[in-house]
Amino acid sequence: MNILVIGSNGREHALAEAYAKSKKVNNVVMTPGNGLTDFTNKKIKNYPSVAMMDFDGIVNVCKKEKIDLVDVPQDDIIGQGFVDKFKKLGFQTFGPTQKASQIEWDKKWARAFMVKYNLPVPHFKSFTNHKEAEKYVHSLDEQVLYVKASGLIGGKGAIRAENKKEAVAAIRQMAEFGKAGETFLIEECLVGEEFSLFAMCDGKNYQIVSVAQDHKTVYECDKGPNTGGMGCVAPAGVLTAAEIAIIEAKILRPFMVGMEQEKRPYSGVLYLGGMLTKNGVKIIEFNARWGDPEAEVILPSITTDYLSIAEAVTMKQLNNVAMKLDGKVRISIAGCSRGYPTDYSAVKGKEIFGLEAAMKLPGISIYGAGIKREGRRFFANGGRIFHLVAEGETIVQARVRAYGAMATIQVEGNNLHYRTDIGWRDVMRMYSNKNTANTS
Ligand code: AMP
Ligand code: GLY
Repeated sequence: MNILVIGSNGREHALAEAYAKSKKVNNVVMTPGNGLTDFTNKKIKNYPSVAMMDFDGIVNVCKKEKIDLVDVPQDDIIGQGFVDKFKKLGFQTFGPTQKASQIEWDKKWARAFMVKYNLPVPHFKSFTNHKEAEKYVHSLDEQVLYVKASGLIGGKGAIRAENKKEAVAAIRQMAEFGKAGETFLIEECLVGEEFSLFAMCDGKNYQIVSVAQDHKTVYECDKGPNTGGMGCVAPAGVLTAAEIAIIEAKILRPFMVGMEQEKRPYSGVLYLGGMLTKNGVKIIEFNARWGDPEAEVILPSITTDYLSIAEAVTMKQLNNVAMKLDGKVRISIAGCSRGYPTDYSAVKGKEIFGLEAAMKLPGISIYGAGIKREGRRFFANGGRIFHLVAEGETIVQARVRAYGAMATIQVEGNNLHYRTDIGWRDVMRMYSNKNTANTS
């Protein structure tokens, strides 16, 4: 079979590799792909001139390449209804419909859904009127708050406000987000450990795949602005088996039932962004897709044929598939342009050294993101340039490999930035023998 994966980031690269592993797959076509996606794997073919949003251009590629299954993995195109449109044209398509993905692209609707189905959420209130929002902030006790645009802004729409003054400034910032910020939420700040739990869903049934832990801020010790994700560990030991059982009973099952009742059965990957607080798990958000960089540490661990899983999802037969994982620990480190996520324009076009050699080190894989290739030379072409993933029997082995490999890579002019503390919580857990729930 021939598969189409739309997109150009590390998540999409990992997804293309997962499909390519299947003996049933001849070719994986990417629109547009990146400088690394078609570098080592002969089954993967890029269409660099066909942009991710160019629906008609992508359909032409599908016809030319005789595509049998389309995977729509990215939030903007899922929100634009690409899944519905491909289905309408008769393609077998993996991903949630536009209506089902409202759970991600409309945070106000999503919170209302969670309340209706009694899912655990922080205190929140939604607004369109800035004056009313400011009045609400002043009526609260001094506290940390989150002000969040209701629409999609590439993961940058949630602003942490340390006090009322910052909350008022954040409310004003919502205007900068255009339509996506017209409606916004003010939320209580949840305190605890954050996790990303992933489940495969076919509209009725679900299977938990794994739990990962992302590191969102650009600098160590959770300092600096939020990014798309600086690095990740999976499986992360943040949740015990008992806590996962509670998540199933209180979140996943009511979610699936609720979405069916709302006439938008959920099919695809469900990403639960949660916080383990002292009062149990609370939902930060749901996303309607794999996380990035979570996909890079989870997809390589799946030993069940990924095409069979995707087909079972599209045919509503997930119950017939046994999802198996290899049991290894993986850690990813995002190699970024210095200045990301603020201003990294000066790094664009700088050469990357050591990448090809690093890829060949034991237990190392590298997924491309903002990267270009000319012959065998690589150049920075975005904020997150690549995601280096190391596997190991333990978090410590994976981490030693990952940072050893990172030390061999450089971007011209000392322009490679990465966090040096990815996975620190799981290292602490390993030494303190605290729960490492195995979700496989
Ligand atoms: P979001 O745009 O909703 O994914 O939020 C981005 C990040 O902001 C999350 O990954 C959390 O780290 C943080 N965040 C969002 N909402 C809350 C909240 N109510 N309490 C604590 N942290 C939050
Ligand atoms: N890892 C964060 C995201 O994919 O939204």
